Amino acid sequence: MPPSVQDGRVTKNKSSSRRSSTRQTSQSNQESKEYKQNQPLPLVERTNALPIEQFKPTYAPTISEPFRLKIPTDKSKDDSTPNKSKEMDYVLDLYTAKTIPSADFEACFGLIELTSSNAYDGSSMGWSPSKKRKEMKLPDMKYLIARRGARNSDNTSAKEPILGFLSFMVTYEDGKEVIYCYEIHLSPEAQGLGLGRQLMLTCEDIGQRVGLEKTMLTVFKSNTKAMRFYERCGFGVDEYSPQPRRLRNGTVKEPDYLILSKMLDNDDPWQTD
Ligand SMILES: CC(C)(COP(=O)(O)OP(=O)(O)OC[C@H]1O[C@@H](n2cnc3c(N)ncnc32)[C@H](O)[C@@H]1OP(=O)(O)O)[C@@H](O)C(=O)NCCC(=O)NCCS
Repeated sequence: MPPSVQDGRVTKNKSSSRRSSTRQTSQSNQESKEYKQNQPLPLVERTNALPIEQFKPTYAPTISEPFRLKIPTDKSKDDSTPNKSKEMDYVLDLYTAKTIPSADFEACFGLIELTSSNAYDGSSMGWSPSKKRKEMKLPDMKYLIARRGARNSDNTSAKEPILGFLSFMVTYEDGKEVIYCYEIHLSPEAQGLGLGRQLMLTCEDIGQRVGLEKTMLTVFKSNTKAMRFYERCGFGVDEYSPQPRRLRNGTVKEPDYLILSKMLDNDDPWQTD
């Protein structure tokens, strides 16, 4: 009986077995590569892989529609209508970190610096323009930009100055699929008109259409105005918001920021109880 046959079973000699296992390994590597290639990407990766021309109609189909907000008299600077509020049209644009025009990128950076560099400076993080720019350029970062006014014939918004923006990313946080709002900043004259709420609602709508679990964001505790705004928008402290830490010397260190979140309503409309 050849040594390769024992107990009625065919065994291979070492050399052939080694060759074969190499062949099998490369074959199974190939198979697993093909298997992976044939598998749909997970939701987050799949969403981020979409070019913005496809992302917009799929997840932000209403973005091109102008919306109207009331401007209180003291903000309208229009003496001809002393006791009446005025209405203004606004438009939103959506870009990625790659497609945002550099002048708009700089305007967004300028708004962060104007409204929040002091809060960063007073925090444990400190204000670092280079770190902020780097974060703003993360490949999956997207920008909702608010301007006053009308649209051009090609449906791009006429080049009015930026009044504010919200940047967000479809990502994972603590293993959950979320839409993370990185920044929301309005120029001082555009605050208190409802524009912040409109940007946040648009961000939430995108998250819901993608099918994500919640909207998340980070806020400095010192920014009490923003905390009130988020509260009015329905956010609460997230379960993963950092807890106070007891240091070796016994003192308790309170974190200077909170992580807030809001669940997105992803009820299946076809589900019947
Ligand atoms: C925070 C910010 C985005 C809010 O946007 P906004 O357009 O001014 O807010 P809105 O007008 O849409 O207000 C929405 C709701 O929040 C409330 N709100 C907004 N700012 C508030 C404030 N300072 N104090 C109390 N409530 C406030 C409004 O009363 C409104 O509630 P209501 O609809 O129940 O009346 C904006 O003020 C801003 O850019 N601030 C400076 C930058 C900043 O701090 N960003 C946050 C970084 S974490």
